Amino acid sequence: MPGFAASAIKDLRGRGVAAARQLNYRPMEIFTLKGKSAAVTGAGRGIGKATADLLEKAGANVARIDVDPAPGILAADVSKEESVEKVFRQVGPVDILVNNAGIAVRKTALDITVAEWEQVLAVNLTGLFLCSRVAARGMKEKGGGAIVNLASIMGFSGGLFPNPAYQASKGAVVNLTRALALEFAEAGIRVNAVAPTFVRTDLTTPIFGNPEVLKKVMEHTPLGVLPEVEDIAAAILFLAGPAARCITGVTLPVDSGYLAR
Ligand SMILES: NC(=O)c1ccc[n+]([C@@H]2O[C@H](COP(=O)([O-])OP(=O)(O)OC[C@H]3O[C@@H](n4cnc5c(N)ncnc54)[C@H](O)[C@@H]3O)[C@@H](O)[C@H]2O)c1
Repeated sequence: MPGFAASAIKDLRGRGVAAARQLNYRPMEIFTLKGKSAAVTGAGRGIGKATADLLEKAGANVARIDVDPAPGILAADVSKEESVEKVFRQVGPVDILVNNAGIAVRKTALDITVAEWEQVLAVNLTGLFLCSRVAARGMKEKGGGAIVNLASIMGFSGGLFPNPAYQASKGAVVNLTRALALEFAEAGIRVNAVAPTFVRTDLTTPIFGNPEVLKKVMEHTPLGVLPEVEDIAAAILFLAGPAARCITGVTLPVDSGYLAR
């Protein structure tokens, strides 16, 4: 009974068949964010900055949040609940949230202090959770939205170099992405993640600055070329926009083949 199925989908969600038909599936239309508002955390540099720039080029009005104050940046520490609440009061409800702020303390499990361990988890995991739930409240009022998290290939593998706090935090991001996707689906909020391989930013200076280490990375890079920050931003744009309207709970590797082995 195709008629029944179509109307049931429409009635259940109010954004089913009719909404799909509103999309003309022209590249310019399925990748546009015209009229949308977005917040990007860790937008001061690296992947966050490239993402904020690209979302803006796609037509979104972008609030750039970072712990390091700078012109054009709203200062907030995502690991602190009060700070998150305050900055989102300033920003107001958004259609798109990119949880990008992240740190690493590259020490072995035997060497890392508990304070360092907790700081990595506080920013990479708790910060993402705090921003997601504050933003989700506003998205609920708006009738929907999209959250894109920065996971990592280290969320799916033990990695190439000892970095246990980071690997643990990113593994948790992969599964929190699924949990939030299920919890927020009813409200029309999609939650996805991207999992980059090594990308040249301030975070990876110790990797890219050491030819021996970089050689090992390239041995795990089947495509023979590593993504740039813009390549990660492109995947985030896809997941944030109408082209991905039926995608939720997934983590998309942008890894030049690292995880294919
Ligand atoms: N570069 C990579 O190879 C790579 C690979 C996989 C995943 N990632 C993830 O991508 C994200 C961005 O990484 P990047 O390489 O651009 O790093 P980066 O160090 O260049 O930039 C991180 C940004 O986050 C901000 N930040 C740090 N702590 C914060 C806090 N508590 N509150 C608000 N902002 C904070 C920093 O000030 C900085 O502007 C991170 O989540 C990282 O784990 C990066």
